[in-house]
Amino acid sequence: MGRVKTAILISGRGSNMQALIDAAADPEFPAEIVRVISNVPGAGGLDRAARAGIPTAAIDHRDFDGRAPFEDALQTDLITAGAELICLAGFMRLLTEDFVNRWNNRMLNIHPSLLPAYKGLQTHERVLEDGVRFTGCTVHFVRPAMDAGPIVVQAAVPVVPGDDADTLAARVLLAEHRCYPHALRLVADGKTSIVDETVRIAGASGPTGITLNPDDGQS
Ligand code: GRF
Repeated sequence: MGRVKTAILISGRGSNMQALIDAAADPEFPAEIVRVISNVPGAGGLDRAARAGIPTAAIDHRDFDGRAPFEDALQTDLITAGAELICLAGFMRLLTEDFVNRWNNRMLNIHPSLLPAYKGLQTHERVLEDGVRFTGCTVHFVRPAMDAGPIVVQAAVPVVPGDDADTLAARVLLAEHRCYPHALRLVADGKTSIVDETVRIAGASGPTGITLNPDDGQS
């Protein structure tokens, strides 16, 4: 079986994108990154992808009259690239129900919280305001509602006294870089199935969440 042709959509610096590219640099990894597309032409991630030898495209949403024409251009690019799976990695545009449904169960997103808690933006600020002791990150299949969909992988990350939004974001980001390749591997390997809108992982008999504590020396 060939590797699953995967496109990554970004809007910014692309550190999660880089983690996926690095994982897929191993020929044994079950997904191959065939395309990186940004809706922001100057996004730093585009340069990083190009340096890794991945074909890139900038499709500026502001050049289109509304979401549907923008997504049509996106779709054409994805199909031309042969994409079978999409990873959203800091892609800051909401996608229409039509587009999401076209990629149903073939599109993943990463979000910097333990969903379904703290959907949306400013997650770390809100976590700190609430005084919760753990936060984390989630990789999930994308559904039309924002930051919703069957969860593939989560990592729990502790909030530490003295944290501000930046220190917490940095700690969560380390976990994100570990979770996303792990989730993509599971999905591309065909290990995941969705039953009643929850993900089952083939062969998993114990806990399937990860307590990824970057301070504990795990790698
Ligand atoms: C990450 O925190 C991701 O979870 C969120 O946006 C951020 C993107 O960062 N969706 P990067 O571009 O991957 O560095």
